Amino acid sequence: MDNRIYFVLVALCAALVKAQDPEIVDEIWPEVQQVGRTGRINCTVTNKQTSVVMWEHVDTGEQISRDTDIEMQLNPMIGGLRKYEVQKRSSGDRETFMLIIRRLVETDAGTYKCTIRITAVAYDQWPTKLGKITVQVPPTIRPGETTAVLQIDQGQNSSLICAASGIPSPNITWTKSDGGFLPVGVAQYRSHILPMTNVTVADMGVYRCVADNNIKPPAEHLAQVLIFHAPATRVVQNSVGQAQNRRFDGKLECIVKGHPEPTVTFERLINQGRAPLNDDDKYEINKQTTDNQNLKAGEQWYTLKVKNVQANDFTDYYCIATNVNGRHESTITLFETMECQGPNCPSLPSARASLLRLSALAFIPTILLLLRHIVLAR
Ligand SMILES: *[C@@H]1O[C@H](CO)[C@@H](O)[C@H](O)[C@H]1NC(C)=O
Ligand SMILES: *[C@@H]1O[C@H](CO)[C@@H](O)[C@H](O)[C@H]1NC(C)=O
Ligand SMILES: *[C@@H]1O[C@H](CO)[C@@H](O)[C@H](O)[C@H]1NC(C)=O
Ligand SMILES: *[C@@H]1O[C@H](CO)[C@@H](O)[C@H](O)[C@H]1NC(C)=O
Repeated sequence: MDNRIYFVLVALCAALVKAQDPEIVDEIWPEVQQVGRTGRINCTVTNKQTSVVMWEHVDTGEQISRDTDIEMQLNPMIGGLRKYEVQKRSSGDRETFMLIIRRLVETDAGTYKCTIRITAVAYDQWPTKLGKITVQVPPTIRPGETTAVLQIDQGQNSSLICAASGIPSPNITWTKSDGGFLPVGVAQYRSHILPMTNVTVADMGVYRCVADNNIKPPAEHLAQVLIFHAPATRVVQNSVGQAQNRRFDGKLECIVKGHPEPTVTFERLINQGRAPLNDDDKYEINKQTTDNQNLKAGEQWYTLKVKNVQANDFTDYYCIATNVNGRHESTITLFETMECQGPNCPSLPSARASLLRLSALAFIPTILLLLRHIVLAR
């Protein structure tokens, strides 16, 4: 044989043999899935012949599969299917080994390596490619590191902390529940730390932090801010009218704030002095706990009901709030009116009827007097 022809043949054969070595074609597409879902990554090879395609979790060093056989010692059943599975699909001389990981957990995230094990080749020469699985996790608040209640003195500095986990790392936004401004001077603040500097009573209230990473649902947390301060009282109306002697009640209302929560007492003017009032047959003292639209954060609504208003009830009443930081009071005057006042008055027709009855009664002495005159005249 001609030397040159021989050389060409050898080169050709070498090229053919070389072309037929198993190879991983294409890059391995990264997989992004939410926690609990199924992740799939593909390793596509050509000229596989007798070689073996292996998947490995690089982060844990665990060997997962050899061709379609799962090597993992733990491969639990999940909804009738195994946690790990490798499916093979062929198309021409290309074979795809799809690694399926079901019900993804955070530790399934990381780098996966596909390797073609070729018996005749040293292991450090085996073709490999890396793929990545990202497991997305919706945000959660870490309660232990998150402020639930902050109690501080006026003028002091502190901060609210909202610690949240999630993949990707969530954005954290602070707002005030009543929609008002934050101590930083804006209505919304993005940071896991909300600075509270030189706090005032106006900073009291409920603060909300929302952790969002676009994986539903976002997480939310409420923190309560309480500022120690002396009580303040204000009245709903500084004078209240009522008609006397007709079993009508006078309702005196007082709004109180302060921290710690003040003790509230009522007094009335009597013989130039003052007398404390108790919850009894004559007076009813109530603290309204129902959500009231008119109440600001930290306020309480007290009512003093003066039952069956009589002539000697028309005087000044005092609503007094006390705590360790101080004392404050407001005055409400109960004054006489001709007609019943307030929402609990009898409806108009019956009011008129009772008036008629009253005027009829008023006639009785007149009639009696007339009768006596008649009798006496005889
Ligand atoms: C993996 O391969 C399967 C079957 O060939 C295909 O349906 C799927 O889209 C591929 N996935 C990726 C991420 O390439
Ligand atoms: C609070 O912080 C402000 C601004 O950083 C500072 O000027 C002030 O002295 C601090 N107040 C207290 C009570 O630490
Ligand atoms: C803190 O607030 C008070 C009342 O609003 C103000 O008079 C004072 O200057 C403030 N102090 C600082 C350090 O901002
Ligand atoms: C956080 O907010 C920025 C700006 O709005 C946005 O680009 C980013 O995608 C957000 N991050 C997450 C994890 O949602």
